[in-house]
Amino acid sequence: MSNTRHFLTLMDFTSDELQQLLQHAIEMKKQWKAGTIYEPLKNMTLAMIFEKSSTRTRVSFEAGMNQLGGHAMFLTSRDTQLGRGEPIADSARVISSMVDVVMIRTFGHDIVEDFAAHSGVPVINALTDDYHPCQLLADMMTYKEHRGSIKGKTATYVGDGNNMCHSWMNAAKQFGFHLNIACPVGYEPNATLMEKLKDHVTLFNNITDAVKDVDLITTDVWASMGQEEEQKIREKAFKDFKVNSAAMALANKDAIFMHCLPAHREEEVSTAVLEGSQSVVWDEAENRLHAQKALLEALVIGLPS
Ligand code: CP
Ligand code: NVA
Repeated sequence: MSNTRHFLTLMDFTSDELQQLLQHAIEMKKQWKAGTIYEPLKNMTLAMIFEKSSTRTRVSFEAGMNQLGGHAMFLTSRDTQLGRGEPIADSARVISSMVDVVMIRTFGHDIVEDFAAHSGVPVINALTDDYHPCQLLADMMTYKEHRGSIKGKTATYVGDGNNMCHSWMNAAKQFGFHLNIACPVGYEPNATLMEKLKDHVTLFNNITDAVKDVDLITTDVWASMGQEEEQKIREKAFKDFKVNSAAMALANKDAIFMHCLPAHREEEVSTAVLEGSQSVVWDEAENRLHAQKALLEALVIGLPS
């Protein structure tokens, strides 16, 4: 099991491997659009465990696995023994003995770590409370397609110091750009990660200074899955951290806007920005499919040489 490769954060691949993976994803996307059949995972099975809701992640992994010639199995804690207290380690041993790769969306990051430690096949983190690395694969692919290399550029993440923020921080290190983070006091990202990545990240407590002359602005919902009851308190705390046209106007002229979606219009982002000419959010969502197909192939078979 120790030789099995997992993707729990962006740090599980080297910078070079991530570049290779995204290049392969861009090529696979072109081939797929041209109607070429490519089935390196024929007869293989992906188990998808969802303990939180999803639209993009489920559709992209399921469609992606089918396109690669394999099959995807949708499992939830509600209708498996996971929801009735069967230990993660036992579930991991059993599930991984029957499938070729596992994808998990859950709450604590320790759950995917525990599963991976007991899994005989690769495990993919499809969002935990702490990280959402699959989203950043799609985001980095989208930047590359629209603007070329992100190396040496500056991006700004506006909002909660959450799973998306942490994955953007990891991306800054792995892809060689600088990340400004604008968040209200009390909603900062994890302090240990901040310290570890301090050369790549600058923290601001206002949006204006953080977005000046940057190449990309991104944001996320104010209340993540599992924090629904904090919505009202968070609406107050984040009211000055909205990405609107005034914020976009402070960035570089060719800056792009990204959002992992789902978006709450007129909360973290104005409708004008989300639907505006600088927004690449629909390409970003579609690229979940292409980036994860490359990821599945890389984990199960290996990176293309
Ligand atoms: N961005 C993202 O992961 O979307 P879903 O929650 O719909 O999967
Ligand atoms: N931060 C959000 C991301 C959703 C894709 C959440 O965890 O709900």
